[in-house]
Amino acid sequence: MAEQSRELRSQQWYAGQGRDAYIHRAWMRRGVPADAFEGRKPHIAIANTASDLAPCNSHLNEVAASVRDGVLEAGGVPLNMPVVSLGETQLRPTAMLWRNMAAMSIEEMIRGNPIDGVVLLGGCDKTIPALLMGAASVGLPAVVVPGGPMLTGTFAGQALGCGTDVWRLSEEVRAGTLPAEQFTRSESAMIRSRGHCNTMGTASTMGLLAEALGMVLPGLAGTPAPDSRLLEGSHATGKLVVEMVAADRGPADVLTKASFHNAIVTLAAIGGSTNAVVHLLAIAGRLGIDLTLDDFDRIGSRVPLLVDLQPAGRFLMDDLYRAGGLHAVLAQVRDLLDPSALTVDGTPLVDHLGDAPIWDPEVIRLRDAPVLGEAGIAVLRGNLAPAGAIIKPAAATPQLLQHRGKAVVFDSIEDFHERIDDPGLEVDASSVLVLRGCGPKGYPGMPEVANMPMPKRLVEQGVRDMVRICDGRMSGTAYGTVVLHVSPEAAAGGPLALVRTGDTIVLDVAGRRLDLDVPADELAARTPNEATLAGFAAPTRGWERLYVDHVLQADSGADLDILVGASGSEVSRESH
Ligand code: FES
Ligand code: MG
Repeated sequence: MAEQSRELRSQQWYAGQGRDAYIHRAWMRRGVPADAFEGRKPHIAIANTASDLAPCNSHLNEVAASVRDGVLEAGGVPLNMPVVSLGETQLRPTAMLWRNMAAMSIEEMIRGNPIDGVVLLGGCDKTIPALLMGAASVGLPAVVVPGGPMLTGTFAGQALGCGTDVWRLSEEVRAGTLPAEQFTRSESAMIRSRGHCNTMGTASTMGLLAEALGMVLPGLAGTPAPDSRLLEGSHATGKLVVEMVAADRGPADVLTKASFHNAIVTLAAIGGSTNAVVHLLAIAGRLGIDLTLDDFDRIGSRVPLLVDLQPAGRFLMDDLYRAGGLHAVLAQVRDLLDPSALTVDGTPLVDHLGDAPIWDPEVIRLRDAPVLGEAGIAVLRGNLAPAGAIIKPAAATPQLLQHRGKAVVFDSIEDFHERIDDPGLEVDASSVLVLRGCGPKGYPGMPEVANMPMPKRLVEQGVRDMVRICDGRMSGTAYGTVVLHVSPEAAAGGPLALVRTGDTIVLDVAGRRLDLDVPADELAARTPNEATLAGFAAPTRGWERLYVDHVLQADSGADLDILVGASGSEVSRESH
């Protein structure tokens, strides 16, 4: 049992004979023994995003029960704390709009309650980022249990990748090569078990990156949701957090520039989601760590891609776990990792890698036989993206990475849907599709619409990829030559608002450029037209209003300006 030699934070509520301490203890008693409040047992919140409306997280109550057992065994007091959850597929207009709201509420629930440490249970895309953002701002000892991916489902003898195969099959329906009825029948096979998407989408990426950052019990991330070892690791995490409280080891000890370096190397080696860029920037912002968009290119763009997972590759998360998991990947790029970065157990991440074996070199490649020699995220700048835009070259068509084409511009996703299949639309395979009004402010919430479906007519001719440019995001399960997160967005005065159909756009990924080939004086004289302005959201109340008034651009993590930085764990005033 970890010896608690320091005065526990929860004692600010529970110690003494006064009226307030009486109230705090009495209301919590309900069968809890008196010695739970005497200052020897740390009170551990289990921040639980289990929700039937976040179906990827619905199994987290079972995970919470195992965490609870571990906390009890180590002499702590476990407290279930349901927090705002976000179901990626269900929430309108986009779960990203609510990430900062979830993070803000999680921060305040950790801060305002009589607890000494917290275990963060997440899974579906935005839940782990929101939990980490909130916990990082408060600074109490915190550790993540990633809920884990679902098992692989099969349809008509073929494995189905969540998300990725929805995009692929729906394009086949559009191309007329798959009957719509077959497409619908695959629905029940897509989601085979509890857990989050099994492709290398945002949830898989953020679970693995949480461990690369040091915030997970080493070896646990990537364990499939139905696997018994997830519960075993959850139990161990419950014990660990009690020890972390005794050692006063908090997020600030784990999350450093060195750990973000490791996360960026990992992001590239696993071929992770582009969404991780905004999430990592936002988490770093909470800790005052000077992480920039350029760090992703500088640290990550020459790291080899070692994991052959959908959406870019073949396999699924189940296969990655079977093949050796995250440690087998990281052992291959050990020399690229920062050895000074610690994990939640107080030891360096690199010390946990040993000679982690690769059991299936098709799924996890050896360093000298990578899927791709240089992976990661390329950061583009130019007169179309003064503050930066990103592209994932590994998910793109190599021939399109250097491209010059005529813009076909859409002012909103509705405008896009209305016109994309219009037979009169002047578009060919060399055109560049531009969609604006989809940034943090413009939509609002920066939806995953950047991987625009291509015109039906071109799809039928066999076109499978085109250059697409957007101020929104792309689903982590999607692929294509898509330039994302253009900053500043059109609705924040970015030059993307000035592009006209027929303008020439030059994409030069090798040179890291994205430019509009229009003379500077002509561009300076342009203003956004009526239809463009009408495409921007103008919410008048509630969270959406607060959000558009305060949200930062993608290159700063799209956090709210009022949430950047730490709040700390001190709250001195009482309600009575
Ligand atoms: Fe939840 Fe994909 S929808 S992880
Ligand atoms: Mg998503």
